[in-house]
Amino acid sequence: MATMDPSEKKILLITGAVLSLFIFSILYARGKNNDLPECLPFDKAYLDPKVKKLDEKTYQVFAVAQMWQFQPSEIYIPLGSDVDFFITSKDVVHGFNISEKNVNLTAVYGNINKTTVHFDKPGVYNITCHEYCGVGHQAMQAQVIVNDPSFK
Ligand code: CUA
Repeated sequence: MATMDPSEKKILLITGAVLSLFIFSILYARGKNNDLPECLPFDKAYLDPKVKKLDEKTYQVFAVAQMWQFQPSEIYIPLGSDVDFFITSKDVVHGFNISEKNVNLTAVYGNINKTTVHFDKPGVYNITCHEYCGVGHQAMQAQVIVNDPSFK
């Protein structure tokens, strides 16, 4: 093996250090923030829109976008819930945006995008499509309605 000159060695060391710092920061961010969006393998079952209750404070929403609506279009959950959204599209590329919650995903046929949102304030959260998808784009929306069960 050829001998390395010292400046080459230095560059390799620095590159290695920067790379490991980069990998470490990604792992650290993932560990700290478990609601980073994920991409899951596609399955036809995701094309069936539904809300699934796992327990009192944990829900799964299987959201399906299509021209020009989201299903389910009204999602009722109690205050303090964690909601996993699984998002896909039946046709073209749509957006899936909940601006109050910083959710900004795309709905793509053949892809499942997942994110988890904690709802700690009661109210109505609008889901809008922010990806131009044709004449009905502007009207394409749905709502998450967060109820406070202690407030009747
Ligand atoms: Cu769907 Cu724009």
